[in-house]
Amino acid sequence: MIELRDLTKTYENVVAVDGLTVDIRPGVVTGFLGPNGSGKSTTMRMILGLDQPTKGSATINGMKYHDLKFPLREVGALIDAKALHPGRSARNHLLALAASNNIPTKRVDEVLDIVGLSKVAKKRAGNFSLGMGQRLGIAAALLGDPGVLLFDEPVNGLDPEGIRWVREFFRGLASEGRTVFVSSHLMSEMALTADDVIVIGRGKLIRQGKISDLTENALGTVLVRSPQVADLEAALRRAGYGVTTDNESTLTVSGATSEQVGEVAHASSVVLHELTPQRASLEDVFMELTADSVEYSGAQHQSGAEQ
Ligand SMILES: Nc1ncnc2c1ncn2[C@@H]1O[C@H](COP(=O)(O)OP(=O)(O)O)[C@@H](O)[C@H]1O
Ligand SMILES: [Mg+2]
Repeated sequence: MIELRDLTKTYENVVAVDGLTVDIRPGVVTGFLGPNGSGKSTTMRMILGLDQPTKGSATINGMKYHDLKFPLREVGALIDAKALHPGRSARNHLLALAASNNIPTKRVDEVLDIVGLSKVAKKRAGNFSLGMGQRLGIAAALLGDPGVLLFDEPVNGLDPEGIRWVREFFRGLASEGRTVFVSSHLMSEMALTADDVIVIGRGKLIRQGKISDLTENALGTVLVRSPQVADLEAALRRAGYGVTTDNESTLTVSGATSEQVGEVAHASSVVLHELTPQRASLEDVFMELTADSVEYSGAQHQSGAEQ
């Protein structure tokens, strides 16, 4: 369990994280979503004790990171896949980390195997592809067999195969009862990975909940096909719904559920040939939720993406 309480970080003139209060529960994958520059990396860095909060707190299983005796056994993280000694082999990199946390050598070989790097364990990590670097970072996160795991934009730059692997791997970790907290600026990626989502914009909490609720609550449009389109359009407008005509036989109705459209049609004795709710796509929902919080969208893309 990760608990954030009024977590706030201010840099000179930017409020990077603004009063975040959320619980990230075990046993599920929690997606941490927000546009670039919204404060995801800063939040994760504060959870990991790499940045000091200006106000509020972040705890892991009730403890601040710095109070954990063997941090790697409680929490593992992949924050920056490039943060390794390029001249060291993958195995030596992990051995150094393990030694500092009283983790046996046997575990190093175990995690190399788990992430599929056993065969290249003796190769210089500096020559690794991005995907291999991510796997090594994940191996490091797993070293202490921690119950809490944080991954900051782990699929950035991965190929589709790597993305699928990561996704299934995270789901597996959650199903073992671990807390898995994964950030992304792509809603579509989270839709396939996360059970819960926390959406932020400009450091503030915008929405928290099950990913399924997020889309269900977003009222989409309803596609209607009828041989009496003109009558139906008039009736729907009288009922106060937004209508656009697609062609001679179909309408798109906004602001109404399919039930409401069906009832209006029935009340005006209009025959329907089709009545289909058009679920808003996750990306639509995300754009709508965060629209107000995307500032300087051009510049933020560059500054936030790598953190
Ligand atoms: N060390 C820093 N000094 C000053 N501003 C920073 C620093 N780190 C992040 N920021 C700013 O804080 C905001 C949030 O950044 P970040 O946490 O990296 O967002 P995200 O990970 O969601 O892209 C941005 O406006 C960013 O420019
Ligand atoms: Mg970031």
